[in-house]
Amino acid sequence: ASGAHVPALVIGTGYGGSVAALRLAQAGVDVHMIEMGMAWDTPGSDGKIFCNTREPDYRSYWLRTRTKAPLNYFLGLPIDRDIPRHTGILDAEEFGGITVYQGRGVGGGSLVNGGMAVTPKRENFGAVLPSVDADEMYDVYYPRANAGLGVGTVDPAWFDSTACYQYSRVGRKHAQRSGFPFVFVPDVYDWDYMEQEAAGTVPRSALAGEILYGNNHGKKSLQQTYLARARATGRVTVSPLHRVTSVAPAAGRYTVVIDQLNTTGDTTAVKTVTADRVFFAAGSVGTSKLLVRLKATGVLPGLNGEIGRGWGDNGNVMCGRANHLWDPTGALQSAIPCSGIDNWAAGGAFAEVAPLPTGIETFASFYLSITRNPHRAEFSWNAAAGRVDLNWQTSWKRPSIDMARTIFDRINSREGTIYRTDLFGVYKIWGDHLTYHPLGGAVLNRATDNYGRLTAYPGLYVVDGALIPGNTTVNPFVTITALAERNIERIIATDL
Ligand code: FDA
Repeated sequence: ASGAHVPALVIGTGYGGSVAALRLAQAGVDVHMIEMGMAWDTPGSDGKIFCNTREPDYRSYWLRTRTKAPLNYFLGLPIDRDIPRHTGILDAEEFGGITVYQGRGVGGGSLVNGGMAVTPKRENFGAVLPSVDADEMYDVYYPRANAGLGVGTVDPAWFDSTACYQYSRVGRKHAQRSGFPFVFVPDVYDWDYMEQEAAGTVPRSALAGEILYGNNHGKKSLQQTYLARARATGRVTVSPLHRVTSVAPAAGRYTVVIDQLNTTGDTTAVKTVTADRVFFAAGSVGTSKLLVRLKATGVLPGLNGEIGRGWGDNGNVMCGRANHLWDPTGALQSAIPCSGIDNWAAGGAFAEVAPLPTGIETFASFYLSITRNPHRAEFSWNAAAGRVDLNWQTSWKRPSIDMARTIFDRINSREGTIYRTDLFGVYKIWGDHLTYHPLGGAVLNRATDNYGRLTAYPGLYVVDGALIPGNTTVNPFVTITALAERNIERIIATDL
């Protein structure tokens, strides 16, 4: 309620926010979480909480009147469709040179993502977070994060026999014939549940094209893991459809201004609460936008000059390959990827073998590559327009394309195959207009101290992907979770 006071306020309910809330609550601190998206705990008229990728409806997108599918063409035809404007689950946030996809709702990105839960290779960690003690991360915090998230790996014997991973097996064959290491990718999806889906004994989720707009079964999102444990402490409350707009110092505390939203995105009430400590966990983009605006407009003028800097796209780039007729990838595809091709050391690319869960045979192999793209962008306050801009250029994906090509040019040449040109437009090979993995904007040990403290303002912290300087070499959420575990442990020990 307006006027209330809370000891700890957490902005956002993704990975960083959920870790902070659980650990603070376990330490005896009452926590209030503010989430701009919906709760996603109530079924719609079809009896399902989430819609699938084949029939996107009002639940699919955050305040759009037309879908904006990451893979927006098929056979050269646009596939986007009109939808009612609603506080849906996936935000395709458009900046000048890039569309940044993010989850909206209690659970943040864990609601919409593929669940791929990858710990970076130890030898690559120094480049990811240079100021962090790698021994501590690999001995304590990565294991803690993996356990907390419920990470598991596909059973290799089942993988070899199930129809729904035919596409991954084709990916493996082509990778190995070109001499690339093929790796299984861990995931938070319940693998036993998926085996039952394939056996036809439970309702289908991964095998029904559910991903991007939520999974009704099987996926262990934060709602099932960290947030469930946080709520079970009895010390954590969550306000969905509330968006933080300001955090201002006030007599040793912070005044937090919050808009209450309805499901068409209008503000129905403005509330003000006070908090002793505020944890920014609105995601790389959300946290950066708030901090850049609050600094530029004089609300938090003491934030340092690194605020808004060091943003990267984790080198994301997508492409498809057209296989020969003797290499079908399967009409039934699990929407949860389970494998990848590792050419990081030699070529700067780690490619997930991704599904195209269209329900029909496409003879296509589809990949999301994570690459060592060197470009970093900056958020800045655009006073005239009253918004925060990001100066990323579409042409900055060029190094990513070149790195991904170290894998796929060789595979195409070995297999006598070509790139698909019908998935991202008319005669367009590369999905270079987007990222799923925004990282940075309030980088650890630069914008904050080495534990996420905004030192000019005691009691303000950053705990999410904004801390990571643009690349994790693999999918990011395990690293975001592990770093949050490390930082909150120190903050609880020394600041409370
Ligand atoms: P996260 O974005 O999770 O949470 C931030 C929350 O804050 C959101 O719920 C948001 O609504 C809320 N918020 C923002 N501003 C606010 C405000 N002003 N007031 C209140 N609330 C606010 N990663 C991976 O490791 N493996 C994978 O397989 C995938 N796959 C994938 C697919 C797709 C489609 C997407 C979009 C993303 C992925 N990711 C992924 C990326 C992963 O989901 C992402 O890195 C994390 O969710 C980021 O975690 P954070 O805690 O930083 O923020």
